[in-house]
Amino acid sequence: MSLPHPSPDPARPTLFSDEAWVEVLSAMDRTYADLVDYQERLERQNAELQEMRTFLTAILSSVSDVLIVAGRTGQVEQVSRSVLTLTGRPEAQVVNAGLVELFAEAQRPVLAALLQGVREQRRSASLECDLLTAEGMEPLELSAAPRLDERGRVDGYVLTGRPLGALRKAYAGLSESHDALKTAQAFLVRNEKLASLGRLLAGVAHELNNPISFVYANTHALERYAGKFETYFAKVQAGASREELIALRQELRLDREVANLREAINGARDGAERVRDIVEDLRRLSSDGAGEKVAFDLAETARTAGQWVMRGMKQPVTLDLSSLRRVEVLGRRGHIQQVVMNLIQNSADALEDRADGRIRLSLGAEGDRAVLVVADNGPGVPEAVRASIFDPFFTTKPVGRGTGLGLSISHKIAEEHGGSLALIEADEGAAFRLDLPLAGGVA
Ligand SMILES: Nc1ncnc2c1ncn2[C@@H]1O[C@H](COP(=O)(O)OP(=O)(O)O)[C@@H](O)[C@H]1O
Ligand SMILES: [Mg+2]
Repeated sequence: MSLPHPSPDPARPTLFSDEAWVEVLSAMDRTYADLVDYQERLERQNAELQEMRTFLTAILSSVSDVLIVAGRTGQVEQVSRSVLTLTGRPEAQVVNAGLVELFAEAQRPVLAALLQGVREQRRSASLECDLLTAEGMEPLELSAAPRLDERGRVDGYVLTGRPLGALRKAYAGLSESHDALKTAQAFLVRNEKLASLGRLLAGVAHELNNPISFVYANTHALERYAGKFETYFAKVQAGASREELIALRQELRLDREVANLREAINGARDGAERVRDIVEDLRRLSSDGAGEKVAFDLAETARTAGQWVMRGMKQPVTLDLSSLRRVEVLGRRGHIQQVVMNLIQNSADALEDRADGRIRLSLGAEGDRAVLVVADNGPGVPEAVRASIFDPFFTTKPVGRGTGLGLSISHKIAEEHGGSLALIEADEGAAFRLDLPLAGGVA
């Protein structure tokens, strides 16, 4: 814009031409328009700046993590409100203080070295550091990043820190309840073991009682016979006459008692053998947990399992074992016996209020598998719980009666044997199918 030149002598007014005036006026107009434009831009930028500041303040006051902005020399420029809350210091005391002074004295050299590294390598770094607080210290998971200016030079630091105290407390709480849960679980597993041991012992006690009383009765008889023979031999020693001895022999019925003697001995031996067999069964049940898998007759094991559960039972239940035929499987006999006992016990529990309760075991071979089915005529498993019955601790029985572990343990044992255990469809009641690998492969 070229304005008309004023006269060099101010005392002498100069006359401008019309064109010159027009030019002046339009120049003023333009300048004014420029000014308005500039003013508007300034206001817009001010508003933006204000918005940005509000935004930043909102962030700084709402983040729960620690946020510290520091300058190149490490003096604090701005902090989130959480820093003031944690340290219990007013903003004026924190801002402009040295950044490292906010932290525990012993850690300051490490922190200073870390910041130097951040500056030199222009890379973030992190460490665990204790922020000095009103109550003492708060451990922080601290991460420091370089703050760059518009030319990309390091102009300061941005530090973020996650307070670990609350987190640690939460972790400690979590691990405490985890431990409590584990203890409770171990307790329940032990309970189930004790419960099955209890059932087993009830059966064993009953089972042992018979042969033992048999042995007792026979020893009593043997004692009586011994008395008679002693009387007779005393007479012989005393030199009794032949006639006297014959009479005594008849009186004491010695000839019949000799035969009875043999019977009593056989009886006592049978009883003792039965006791030995039971002990042998028990030994097998308890000792083959970690042992090698062997071939054994599943029918026999199922029969033993059935007998033992039945003996421990109070209500009358018919146990039908007539369709058990010899099938050799490969596995740990004691464990499999435990599975069959669990299944029969569950059926027996389901039949508790019934007078005509019936449990039927059937065994056959399909391909290379032995298939044992335990079926009962109880109420069956309701649709709603079918999916849960194999879950550990799932039980529909009252507290103290069921632990909900029987089926889950049984399922695990079946799988460990390369077999399976499943609830199958049945016309009435419930039916469980256990399949196991045959000892000799395909039947
Ligand atoms: N023969 C069955 N008839 C009906 N319900 C059964 C039968 N067997 C198992 N169940 C159901 O499965 C649940 C889980 O069985 P189990 O794991 O042996 O635990 P528990 O016998 O301790 O309850 C039982 O509580 C019962 O509801
Ligand atoms: Mg059970």
